[in-house]
This record gives sequence, C-alpha cells and structure tokens, in this order.
Amino acid sequence: MLRRWLSPRFCINVLRSPSVSLNPPLVRRGICSSSETLDPPRPLEEVGEDLEVHEPAAKLSIDRSGLYNPPEHSHERALGTELVKHLRDIIKFRGGPISVAEYMEEVLTNPKTGFYMNRDVFGAQGDFITSPEVSQMFGEIIGVWCMCLWEQMGQPEKVNLVELGPGRGTLMADLLRGTSKFEKFIKSLDIHLVECSPTLQKVQYSALKCAEGINGVYDDKRTISQLAGAPIYWHTTLDQVPSGLPTIIIAHEFYDALPVHQFQKGSRGWSEKMIDIAEAEDSAQRFQFVLSPIPTPATLLYLKKRCMWASKEELAKLDHIEVCPKAMELTHAIAKRIGSDGGGALIIDYGLNGVVSDSLQAIRKHKFVDIFDDPGSADLSAYVDFACIRHSAEEASEDVSVHGPMTQSQFLGLLGINFRVESLLQNCTDEQAESLRSGYWQLVGDGEAPFWEGPDDQTPIGMGTRYLATAIVNKKQGIPVPFQ
Ligand SMILES: C[S@@+](CC[C@H](N)C(=O)[O-])C[C@H]1O[C@@H](n2cnc3c(N)ncnc32)[C@H](O)[C@@H]1O
Repeated sequence: MLRRWLSPRFCINVLRSPSVSLNPPLVRRGICSSSETLDPPRPLEEVGEDLEVHEPAAKLSIDRSGLYNPPEHSHERALGTELVKHLRDIIKFRGGPISVAEYMEEVLTNPKTGFYMNRDVFGAQGDFITSPEVSQMFGEIIGVWCMCLWEQMGQPEKVNLVELGPGRGTLMADLLRGTSKFEKFIKSLDIHLVECSPTLQKVQYSALKCAEGINGVYDDKRTISQLAGAPIYWHTTLDQVPSGLPTIIIAHEFYDALPVHQFQKGSRGWSEKMIDIAEAEDSAQRFQFVLSPIPTPATLLYLKKRCMWASKEELAKLDHIEVCPKAMELTHAIAKRIGSDGGGALIIDYGLNGVVSDSLQAIRKHKFVDIFDDPGSADLSAYVDFACIRHSAEEASEDVSVHGPMTQSQFLGLLGINFRVESLLQNCTDEQAESLRSGYWQLVGDGEAPFWEGPDDQTPIGMGTRYLATAIVNKKQGIPVPFQ
C-alpha cells in the first residue's frame, strides 16, 4: 500500500518555520522582577538538595497574590468551549492554578472533549501525520525488529505483542502483513492495543480487518485480525495487559503525548510554570502562565529526581526544564514487566538524549498554534527525554538492559530499509515510485529532499535524525538488533 506524502508531525513545521525552534515561542521567556519575599536564586544542581522530599500534598494550595506572570506571555483567546469551562472550573475549585502536565492531560485525554477522544486526528484532513502513515515500510521494518527479538527470545510459543497508542492501527497492520508468511511467529502472537480513545479503537478495529464480534456484534475488547488470524485485545492502560507471557512492546510517538511539568529558573530560583485563568479586559476568560512562588510537589519530587540524573555542566546551561513523570512511571512498568516476563520494548519518538528544555507545542491542521488557543482542538506534544527513559528503566529492574538511542535513520537503515525500498521500486507505477521515494526520504532523510521537483509546499522533509530509537530488553536475550 502506498500513502500520499504529508507533512510529518512536528518535523516539517520545525524545519520550515523560522520562528520555531527547540524552545518554541509559545512558551515565552522572562519573569518579572524578583520579590523580596521570595527565595533568593539557587543553582539548578542544588534544587532539592536542601529540601526534604515530601509526599505530594493532597491539595496544591497556592496563594494567588504571590504568583507572578512572565510579562512576555500573551495568548490568543481561548474559546468558551466545554473543555475551557472544565479547565476553568478545576482552577477555580482548587483555588489556584494547575500544572502544565494537568492541563496537557485534560486537553489530550479528557474523556468527553480531549483532543484524541472523539475523532481521527491523522492525515491530510487531520492535524498531523506520523511515520506509519507516511510509508508501509515503517511498520514492516518494526515487524522485522519484533521477529528478530522473538528469535533472540528463543521463539516462544506465546508472546504478548503490545502497542502503546496505535493511532490508526497502520503500524500494526503493516507489521502483520509484512510478517504474515512467518507462521510460527504469527501464531505465537496475542496482540494487545493500549488506546485511550474509543474513536481510534474503532479505526484500529477496521484497519486490522477485525472479524465481527460474537453474532456480528462489535466487541471493543477482543476480536481476531483477519490480517494474521491473531487475537487482538484493547486496553486503556498497560497495567490491564495480562502479565506472565514474554512481551514485546512498541511505543511509537506515544511518549511525546504524555504530560510534562515545566520549570523555569529566574532570579528567585526554580519555579514550576503553572496555568491560571486570566481575566481579559472584555472579561472573557483566557489562560496564562504563572510561576509558582514556592516549590511545588512536582519541583520537590520530579525536578529533583531528574536533576540527579544529569551532570552539573548539562544543568548549568538550562533555564527551563521539562520533566515527564508519566514517562518515568511507564518506563518503570515496562522495565519491570520485561524484567520478569522476558522480551523487550522499542521506543521511537522525537526527542533528546538528555534533559529537555521547553519543547511543548500545539499543532492544529499541520500548523503550530498557541497552546491556549481553543484547547482540545490541537495536539499537544513534547520532546521525549531518552536519557530519563534509560535511568528510569535501569532504576526499575536489574534484569533489563537499555540500548540506544540511535537515530531513526540508523535504526531503519541497519534493519534493511534500503533493500525494502529497492524491492518495492522494482514493481510499481511512476506515481507509486515517486511516493515511495518521498516516503523513504521522510523516514530516513535529514531536512528537505534534494531530489524533489514538485510544489515547494510539499517538499518531503526527512525526520531520520530528529527521531530516535531506544530498546529496553531482558538481559537474558543479549543485545537486540540493530543495537549490537
Ligand atoms: C501521536 S499519536 C501516535 C499514533 C501512532 N503510534 C502513530 O505513530 O501513528 C498518540 C496515540 O496515543 C494515544 N494516546 C495518547 N495518550 C494516551 C494515553 N494516556 N493512554 C492511552 N493512549 C493514549 C492516542 O489516542 C494516539 O493513538
């Protein structure tokens, strides 16, 4: 199957837009002048050193009078949608602002109005495109990786193949088509899709050509894929996937959707960036960033923890830091499971092999927008901190080893994408060949495709170096391909 080229999520915009960088303008800099009443500045490496780690308070109580709003913040008005009202109610009920993480979680996965919950957000008509949607080769190569790992695991008779956040189900469909001839492997699979969106679960159901449920009734929990004859189960969290079987986990562009806390260094030391209601002049409600005047539980717990895994030199350069506790928790759960049940996990995402500064971004209809602009109508995502994944996995289990990250380009190249594209080019129309070449470039290239002769606004942009791949595997299996 060939798919039309579209701008990849994140990359095309980053490369094209002169105003967008690793530190996007939507998270604006600067704080107002320091207050006599607040702590003096402290270097980052000291965050938490002089502070006991406390359990987070049941209720985060913040004196609004002490909050200060970075002066450069100015945002489009958030519309009066149900989600805006809901967020506003949470802030009012708390009597204080919410964290960026809480905002992000509500915006993306609020059961009623979250971005992912009620529609298909992918492709030309949607908001962004991802690698599996760019080319079938992506899912096929991930299939090669899974089969190699299964071999290294000693070809177990039964395996849980888990995908976190399967989107449209395209990666899994291409993986199953690509490996369908390897009967022993296919027969071993119990497929578990971890997806919070009921709408996307239905899209996955049809992408995987699932058999009608019992008596022709759609069953949203269990079915059989006619692509491979493998049973498929849906869950909303990884915890719900039964343990006890060797497990292969795939997380492609899943971690970047997990909520991040943001911290900012100013003359008063480190503060957590929070989100509060702003009263506009015409009394319409808007949101705004504010800085917490006292260390929040997230500062004491998560910032401190993340900083302990970083060098002083790395920290000294930063005045903004993002920390994703959900990524830490998820990695813990993955590592514990792989450590006890055997198997491995493959994580591919855009990010850095180190502390992430301020990367949170909103994308609607393939364009960057302000994160406060009509929340729930745009995707929010943040760079993935691969170093934090490594530390979290190693902390959780002594039975796993972590490999990489390497660039997506290296990963796909070492697993044979060049041979695959050449083989597909042997037998295709001119139109298909063009699509294959641009898809190949998007997956492994870096920057604009030099060969492109079509319209400028459709130039394929490579995401081969911006996306990274890392693997967490049970030590018994040795080093996974292609990380040797
Ligand atoms: C950026 S999309 C990536 C989709 C797919 N992996 C791809 O590459 O095309 C994120 C996916 O994760 C799902 N998702 C986001 N947050 C989730 C959560 N907290 N729990 C379960 N699924 C989630 C979304 O509904 C969506 O399917």
